[in-house]
Amino acid sequence: MIADYAFSYAPGKLILSGEHAVVYGHPAIAATLDRGIRIAVAKKTFVDGKHSRGPTLRATGLGFVCDVKPDPAGEGPEVLRKALTRLVELFGERVSELELVVESAIPGGRGLGSSASLSVAMIRGVCRFFGETISCDIEAELAMELERIFHGNPSGIDHTVITRGGLLRYEKTESIRVEPIICPRPLRFAVGLASPHGGTLQAVQALKERFARHQKVYEHAFTGIRQIVEEMQMALTAGKLYAVGELMNLNQGYLNALGVSTPELEALCGIARNRGALGAKLTGAGCGGAVIALVDGDPTDVADAFRAAGFLAFLAECKTN
Ligand code: PMV
Repeated sequence: MIADYAFSYAPGKLILSGEHAVVYGHPAIAATLDRGIRIAVAKKTFVDGKHSRGPTLRATGLGFVCDVKPDPAGEGPEVLRKALTRLVELFGERVSELELVVESAIPGGRGLGSSASLSVAMIRGVCRFFGETISCDIEAELAMELERIFHGNPSGIDHTVITRGGLLRYEKTESIRVEPIICPRPLRFAVGLASPHGGTLQAVQALKERFARHQKVYEHAFTGIRQIVEEMQMALTAGKLYAVGELMNLNQGYLNALGVSTPELEALCGIARNRGALGAKLTGAGCGGAVIALVDGDPTDVADAFRAAGFLAFLAECKTN
């Protein structure tokens, strides 16, 4: 039976180690956040007595407030209009009758998974509205279709951790290998926001060009990051947060060397470490975005230090299974 409305939710995510290297077939570790995107799905209200064409997306918290429609000349960011068009292709014309009201608690363009969370929440909302149940694997496949619109050819780590939830190791070579990690200690972070990045696709593409110029050197860096991921997986499983933090700092050094850090991100890392964080690093594509600072206990002091320096900040806890 089709209900009058349906609600869905998908969390945001952070990458603890291995971003960028994961695009080159190395492993990475990611976890879901305790905040995300909620969507209410309903039949569209009538406009002037008739439906306007295509589904509508009305959003708060995504950096704009407007009605986004698939119409190429319509309002709203082009990428969202394309995502809605893809949603109709994936689920059929019946989706054109829907209005999706989105409320996001994840700042966009900060490497915290806003596009993957939106993709998964849209899929869950549409399925729930039509009373359809899909497996986790199908959900991930559909989310990948939408993520391609947002990010070109992503490794898939974002939507994989968001569809599955929890803490996991992800590796994509010829096939995808996902390994849940069980950490006996809570992972608590202060998240400091730098300026938004100019897009994951752009950051990945620029690194690809640098990689092509100095392939051997970049491969060394990726091998170093692989080793960090291996040791971090063991440290997480053993609940050794001190080691996890130290490895985050090391990973940040590599990310800086890869050219995806910025003075703002470095400043945020410095503030966090001075305030006693176990480790701090950028998360996601970099070139702007956010710094995650792992804290043993209460991260309030570190978040306050971010704010005192003029940055927006929030506290986050990751699901550790
Ligand atoms: O979209 P972001 O900022 O969470 O970055 C995703 C992680 C990258 O490794 C940089 C890209 C990818 O496709 O894995």
